[in-house]
Amino acid sequence: MADRQDNTLEERILKLKKEKNAVILAHNYQRGEVQDIADFGGDSLELSQIAARTDADIIVFCGVHFMAETASILSPNKTVLLPDAHAGCPMADMINAEQLRQKKKELPDATVVTYINSTAEVKAESDYCCTSANGVKVVAQIDNEEVLFVPDQYLGKFIMAKTGKKMTLWPGYCPTHADMTPEDIIKCKKEYPAAKVVVHPECRPEVIALADEALSTSGIIRYASREDVSELIVGTEVGIIHRLKKENPGKKFIPVSEKAICYNMKYITLDKVLRSLETMTPEVKVPEEIRVKARAAVDRMLAIV
Ligand code: 13P
Ligand code: SF4
Repeated sequence: MADRQDNTLEERILKLKKEKNAVILAHNYQRGEVQDIADFGGDSLELSQIAARTDADIIVFCGVHFMAETASILSPNKTVLLPDAHAGCPMADMINAEQLRQKKKELPDATVVTYINSTAEVKAESDYCCTSANGVKVVAQIDNEEVLFVPDQYLGKFIMAKTGKKMTLWPGYCPTHADMTPEDIIKCKKEYPAAKVVVHPECRPEVIALADEALSTSGIIRYASREDVSELIVGTEVGIIHRLKKENPGKKFIPVSEKAICYNMKYITLDKVLRSLETMTPEVKVPEEIRVKARAAVDRMLAIV
């Protein structure tokens, strides 16, 4: 029989995953080797949909804390593991439940739409959730002139431009995307004049204005597969380049900025995935009272898309 040490990390993860009936989900910004070992890769919407319907007993979520919380909200009877408990989302932490309750007092008639990049407690105070993939669709169907959008001001501005709906925006932002500048895009365009440009809607409006499209991470992956795309300037976290190259050999992908790194996403390593499966920690579990309220907002979103 092979000695434990003879097996690669990947083999040990796959063996344990099978024994424990676990599923490994990886966001498109994860390290390449983590994306490669996952059963499913995707954007926040796709991963939450998979988490809602999987029949695995354990979900190993290779992403950041709010994503694991969303999985726990949707699958309360499953064990949700986040291989590094410190993998958070700085934008999600830019608003807490008390701050949202205060804002709602100022705007008692507003419908509250909350980006999925938020804590479960904040979701629990919300009417709808949305992701970058469906934010326009969710807001467009709201029959109320007053909408409060939290926490990403830039996704909020993007949705306002697309729907023509005015919203009150919480001043949150993603540090990784907000750091990208129009100059970064102009520089890439000079070097690759024939390339198309796609960016994430968490980018600033002046960056989005220079792009052909603003799309969720999986939207970017679908765009890259188009026949008329051979060179693509990519304005989002650089971890996405791994999957883009893997699925599109022969095409050229140019990151808008090599510095666009979400360090929290990189906390997850294969070592930690293995340890997590061995020890069944760190577990993310949303308390039932919050979960039920948060679930209503997430379900309202899932009913629309
Ligand atoms: P997506 O839902 O587009 O994958 O985005 C998640 C995210 O955190 C972007 O920074
Ligand atoms: Fe949060 Fe930005 Fe990292 Fe996405 S890239 S998880 S929004 S900090």
